[in-house]
Amino acid sequence: MAPQTLPHILSFLLLSFSIFSKLGTTTESTASSIAFTTLGRSRYFFDLFFLPTSQNPEEPVAETQLTDGFSVNYNGFFPSLSSSLLSSLLSSSPPSSMDALLYVSERNGSSNIYLDLFVPAKGGGSFLLPARLQFPLLRQSSHLSRVSMKDKPALAGDDLIYVSTHEPSSSPRRSWAAVYSTHLATGQTRRLTPYGVSDFSPAVSPSGNWTAVASSGARGWSGEVEELKVGIFVFRTADGSGRTLVVDHGGWPCWADESTLYFHRQSSDGWWSIYRAKISIGIGVSLVSVDRITPPGFHAFTPAVSAAAPKLIAVATRRSSSQFRHIELIEVGDGGITYVEVTRPVRPNSHHFNPFFSPDASRVGYHRCRGRSNGGSPPLLLESIKSLAPEAFSLFRIDGSFPSFSHDGKRIAFVGLPGVFVVNSDGSDGRREIFSGNAFPTAWDWKREGVIYTSHGPDFATESTNVDIISITLHDDDAKSQPSIKKLTSGGKNNAFPSPSPDGKWVVFRSGRSGHKNLYIMDALEGEAAGLQHLTDGPWSDTMCNWSPDGEWIAFASDRDNPGSGSFAIYMVHPNGTGLRKVVHSGEGGRTNHPWFSPNSKSLVFTSDYAGVSAEPISNPHHYQPYGDIFIANIDGSNIQRLTHNSYEDGTPTWTPLFLEPTDVAESLQGSARCNFDDCHWLNIKGEVTESLHGKSC
Ligand SMILES: *[C@@H]1O[C@H](CO)[C@@H](O)[C@H](O)[C@H]1NC(C)=O
Ligand SMILES: *[C@@H]1O[C@H](CO)[C@@H](O)[C@H](O)[C@H]1NC(C)=O
Ligand SMILES: *[C@@H]1O[C@H](CO)[C@@H](O)[C@H](O)[C@H]1NC(C)=O
Repeated sequence: MAPQTLPHILSFLLLSFSIFSKLGTTTESTASSIAFTTLGRSRYFFDLFFLPTSQNPEEPVAETQLTDGFSVNYNGFFPSLSSSLLSSLLSSSPPSSMDALLYVSERNGSSNIYLDLFVPAKGGGSFLLPARLQFPLLRQSSHLSRVSMKDKPALAGDDLIYVSTHEPSSSPRRSWAAVYSTHLATGQTRRLTPYGVSDFSPAVSPSGNWTAVASSGARGWSGEVEELKVGIFVFRTADGSGRTLVVDHGGWPCWADESTLYFHRQSSDGWWSIYRAKISIGIGVSLVSVDRITPPGFHAFTPAVSAAAPKLIAVATRRSSSQFRHIELIEVGDGGITYVEVTRPVRPNSHHFNPFFSPDASRVGYHRCRGRSNGGSPPLLLESIKSLAPEAFSLFRIDGSFPSFSHDGKRIAFVGLPGVFVVNSDGSDGRREIFSGNAFPTAWDWKREGVIYTSHGPDFATESTNVDIISITLHDDDAKSQPSIKKLTSGGKNNAFPSPSPDGKWVVFRSGRSGHKNLYIMDALEGEAAGLQHLTDGPWSDTMCNWSPDGEWIAFASDRDNPGSGSFAIYMVHPNGTGLRKVVHSGEGGRTNHPWFSPNSKSLVFTSDYAGVSAEPISNPHHYQPYGDIFIANIDGSNIQRLTHNSYEDGTPTWTPLFLEPTDVAESLQGSARCNFDDCHWLNIKGEVTESLHGKSC
């Protein structure tokens, strides 16, 4: 399909103006690379599938895969396309019958909304047109092409309604998620969410006139990580006007008809349940009634409904009889409710997410992790992510936690919780385990080649826990020889987060030896036995320290503003203990962690909840803290810039002076099983709690 068939939309592609071109020094010699971790995400890949709604559980038919088996595809929607829109998309006259799928796709390092067109096959399934017709719908204008997350598309007439994070929120710890509409023929885009507010999970009414969203309204986000404190607002799709709070507690709305909404909420008995709201739309919008539909005893959430069969609700469930999230159909009749399992008879041991109906309600779509059977790509060691300043630095998601680069940039160390691994940054040779115990983080000595510092023991532990700092020396001249391990601290009072000085003489670390976690400096070769300097001191936690490449500063995360609260800010201090200052905080109760200096020592990259949560956490797999994004700021705290936009948990960034070309690097040694991730741990039903398959990332 030639792009010129969408003339209005795609002509904007040529406008590649970047407001970030002034960021950093952009000469080639100072270009650098940043790598970070996303909890679990390197090991799972989603595709969209559907099953017929008339599925006979005794004789299940196979799923039909809708998406490419290559990108990360999710949150689908079956739109009814108007003939005018179809003919503007297709140069030839459209076939008499055409199916369409709208969905989110992460590919080539950014997220976009795609439209795929299908010709239905005679047997009831779909087959693709000779070439898959795919329209990336939102690459058209400069501000929309900014690095951002796109989510939850729907169609209202010829307007695409969706979530985007391309505009910063007005204050820290507020989500950037807002609902926009883009007219597909002209590309004209309008923000429907008022400034100062964030909206999630939009759904358009059958007439297209109204849109319902989950929103915290003026309350903002107060750090909740399981159920967001959101209510359901309704507004006119055309311009966002008439915005009214209809249900104070609930999320993920969907419309059965112009006056009936279904939604989910966690009930006071603890079970996530489906509710129905009757509303009346007249001069204003008002709530008539709210009824609980699903009873206690199992979780039901993320409802979808079709105007063609308004009594049929598709939901995801977690029941005590399965450790997996499955799609079920609920039929609400006069005599009660009936349940039909859709995905469990077909694929009992996978999580299935976020169902949606075809316009005639004959099919129910959803996404799930694709396994090896769907083909596709090998896991990536480094996934190139779109950088907001491509001339200044490339950005990578790495399949491992707490990465750090050797000083020639040719090797990367990271931890597997447990295990410490080293891999070539070009992906050659596969990963090598150099230490098998639990250890975190990693940092390479600046002078002695092949020396890596880490701390051995449990992560997220108290001051008195047995954790000690070790150095691991690789013997590259002799491939068979084991690395040598040297213990640099003793006494095991949670000695962790070593970071070496650039002259190779010292290591700064945090220790709980005083009863509080504070920073200390010791000899890099001989460890604390050769002397110890107490750098910070107080009844709070200083941790995650990083020594600047120019030797002048040590950056660290500290909760000293409110000890024990879990709220961390980034501070800096000179190695001689002078000059202490706060660099960046995301605000009251906020978390700002994992600082790492830029190669020129003038900026820091770090993890923060500065942009809140980008989607309802229940619509995602398990993330301990579904809010971490990667940011950079100048060391005086100015010019805070968001680097990652997604609804995952990003963390543990590192910054290397080596500029790695912004292309994906596959793992030559394929990793362990994919699709091995947890569903949201807080949905586990008592007695069914599954052990976490992944370590925590921060
Ligand atoms: C991603 O980028 C590569 C290299 O530029 C290109 O060949 C490929 O078609 C792109 N993939 C998608 C899905 O756009
Ligand atoms: C939707 O809005 C249009 C234009 O205002 C109006 O003509 C139509 O009656 C509305 N439909 C419904 C179902 O409210
Ligand atoms: C401490 O170190 C800083 C940075 O190197 C330096 O500017 C300052 O003079 C030092 N202060 C003392 C008291 O040594």
